[in-house]
Amino acid sequence: MDIIHSAAALRLRLQGEPNNVFVPTMGNLHDGHIQLINIAKPRAACTVVSIFVNRLQFGPREDFDRYPRTLESDSARLEAAGVDVVFAPDEQEIYPEPQTFVVEPSDLQYILEGAHRPGHFRGVATVVLKLFNLVMPHSAIFGKKDYQQYLVLLDMVKQFALPIEIIPAETVRAPDGLALSSRNAYLTPEERREAPRLYSVLKKIRSEIEGGARDFQRLDQKAMAELSSHGWQPDYVAVRRRADLRPPTERDRELVIVAAARLGRPRLIDNVEITLR
Ligand code: PAJ
Repeated sequence: MDIIHSAAALRLRLQGEPNNVFVPTMGNLHDGHIQLINIAKPRAACTVVSIFVNRLQFGPREDFDRYPRTLESDSARLEAAGVDVVFAPDEQEIYPEPQTFVVEPSDLQYILEGAHRPGHFRGVATVVLKLFNLVMPHSAIFGKKDYQQYLVLLDMVKQFALPIEIIPAETVRAPDGLALSSRNAYLTPEERREAPRLYSVLKKIRSEIEGGARDFQRLDQKAMAELSSHGWQPDYVAVRRRADLRPPTERDRELVIVAAARLGRPRLIDNVEITLR
């Protein structure tokens, strides 16, 4: 496995390697990231993983400075997972000058996560386009845990006609249901015991909808109230359509229930899909 820090060395290494699949990450890797690699590996001769904590996608009051940077243990995990190339640039390498050209996503960037994290998806799309241009993969893997991010990037690839297939991966969870996330490390032991409630309220909404409930707003509010009464500060719980995360109409069959809530220090997000018969 090659660990490469500069864009020039990456280009050199990938010259004559047209069969690349790419997994972008911010490091501090867990089994969710490793699953993306397992999906990537059989699809190409060369699996490239990037590790870059992208300042552009963090708000001024977010955790950019204390985001865990664990390149050594990450590299060991990636080596064991059979990755071929790790690209771990520093900030100067990706942003040698202020990034004045940016990717402006559709209005999808302003709702849900975007409403609570202004500029976040612009930052994500901009760095992912830049990484795509450096790695030039034929496919890239993204987790559905970050459902809105996945949709924004699908849109980007479509609108810019990028010759890259975006492949979604299911959310990997701890045995008690909590979606794996680097930010789970910020939870106190007591909060960690409470944290699986986020997934369980989403599953409760799903089973109510499967049982015929269609008053989505009432379901959203009930779930937010349950979270609040257990010490959470929910930003949103929302039943939406899968294609564009807009409120469903009566005809929509493919839905996703998305949620974000703060529990103590970290803000956790999760979602479950539901297909109506
Ligand atoms: P990061 O949070 O490190 O996540 C990297 C990838 O792993 C994303 O595609 C994310 O959806 C996926 N992922 C995270 N937790 C997961 C889980 N429990 N199950 C399945 N997949 C999971 O997302 C980012 O980094 C950044 O925004 C990035 C795309 C790298 C751009 O900076």
